[in-house]
Amino acid sequence: MLDRKVKDLLNAQITAEFYSAYLYLDFSNYYKDAGLDGYANWYMVQAQEERDHAMLFIRYLQQQGESVSLETIDKPDKEYKAFIDPLKMGAEHERVVTGLINDIYAEAFKVKDFRTMQFLDWFIKEQAEEEDSADDNITKFELFGSDSKSLYELDADMKARTYAPPSLVLD
Ligand code: FEO
Repeated sequence: MLDRKVKDLLNAQITAEFYSAYLYLDFSNYYKDAGLDGYANWYMVQAQEERDHAMLFIRYLQQQGESVSLETIDKPDKEYKAFIDPLKMGAEHERVVTGLINDIYAEAFKVKDFRTMQFLDWFIKEQAEEEDSADDNITKFELFGSDSKSLYELDADMKARTYAPPSLVLD
């Protein structure tokens, strides 16, 4: 059995990850409506990854013999005034998620829950990668997004991203 606080934080992370998926689907829909199919694709793949993260937290809790409690997922309520807005919001959101993962890690450390810390190691690394790619998206857009020819090519690049299941596999 897990420590109560660690268990509650892990359970809350399921909702946070599904919210991330929801938020990125909203970004994807915004870009789709604008005709930027590459950006729509990039965030659709990102939404699939976030769903996978939620499933990993569900699976981990179940592996520890804990019940999962699914909570309400908030409606994404962002307004986008420019194409760069979702990119900036995405980077900001990933930093919030990193904070949440760190909080669970700190709580697990406090109660010497080494198993949960080991599970979270994958997410610590994943968050570093996600922050990096979110920042990279902003940099590229700031460099090349201002004229339509470059934006067309940038969008084509974003179309190349394909979904792959997470490298972390839980039995
Ligand atoms: Fe599941 Fe983008 O953090």
